[in-house]
Amino acid sequence: RYFGAAVAAGKLGDSVYTGILDREFNSVTAENEMKWDATEPQQNQFNFTNADRIANYAAANGKLLRGHTLLWHSQQPGWAQALSGTALRNAAINHVTRVAGQYRGRIHSWDVVNEAFADGTSGGRRDSNLQRTGNDWIEAAFRAARAADPAAKLCYNDYNTDGINAKSTGIYTMVRDFKARGVPIDCVGLQSHLTNGPPGDYQANLQRFANLGVDVQITELDIPQGSNQAKAYAHVTRACLAAARCNGITAWGARDSGYWPGNGNPLLFDRSGNKKAA
Ligand code: XIL
Repeated sequence: RYFGAAVAAGKLGDSVYTGILDREFNSVTAENEMKWDATEPQQNQFNFTNADRIANYAAANGKLLRGHTLLWHSQQPGWAQALSGTALRNAAINHVTRVAGQYRGRIHSWDVVNEAFADGTSGGRRDSNLQRTGNDWIEAAFRAARAADPAAKLCYNDYNTDGINAKSTGIYTMVRDFKARGVPIDCVGLQSHLTNGPPGDYQANLQRFANLGVDVQITELDIPQGSNQAKAYAHVTRACLAAARCNGITAWGARDSGYWPGNGNPLLFDRSGNKKAA
């Protein structure tokens, strides 16, 4: 099991920040630096400068490295936003192949696809340029990622999926289908941006995914200060420890300062870098 934080390359020169990472976490995730707009700003012109800062920090400091994210409807480069159909599908698969290949052997788990399901009661896919290339875009991405980095655990990651609801059930059904058909998938990420703390069926939801034969990871945990923060963090941690195959928790940042989207003080260390009750 690992315990991670999302990190920003620009903060790695701050010794209070890296002091927290060094002491308290054994895995890091790029908050933005491995996203499509960052790694492929022009088509087929890859830029790993900032992603490498994080990968090199991890390697130099004995941290595991979690990959986030290969394909997502958001934070796409302009050129990809302008593509559709076969041209977009081919570009997306090329992106997966090249980025997963670049970090082959160095990433313990990759968010291959992020946030592809719709909010609300439909349980279906979110509309996006990627979805409009055909419903099989997710499995095509997972197959390409497996070929490019066979050792990495391949995850599907989403939000508002922390309890048992239409959206998480849609994902559950997709994962069950992937396992039945031999589409390579190893883990499900529950982002767990828990504005109101974890839902009562949080652990049951973790466990039902685990029962499909995939690992479960809590990938972007944050809980605002007001909402019984310490108890809520304890609840999440106990649920992960109790559920079979919940093998990691990542907090969406190390300390409250600089937190996205800027307020709520939702992390484990305060603005001065002191540990909070949570
Ligand atoms: C956020 C970053 O934290 C911000 O810095 C950026 O401006 C927007 O994206 N779900 C995800 C993450 O999967 O990649 C998002 O990260 C937060 C929501």
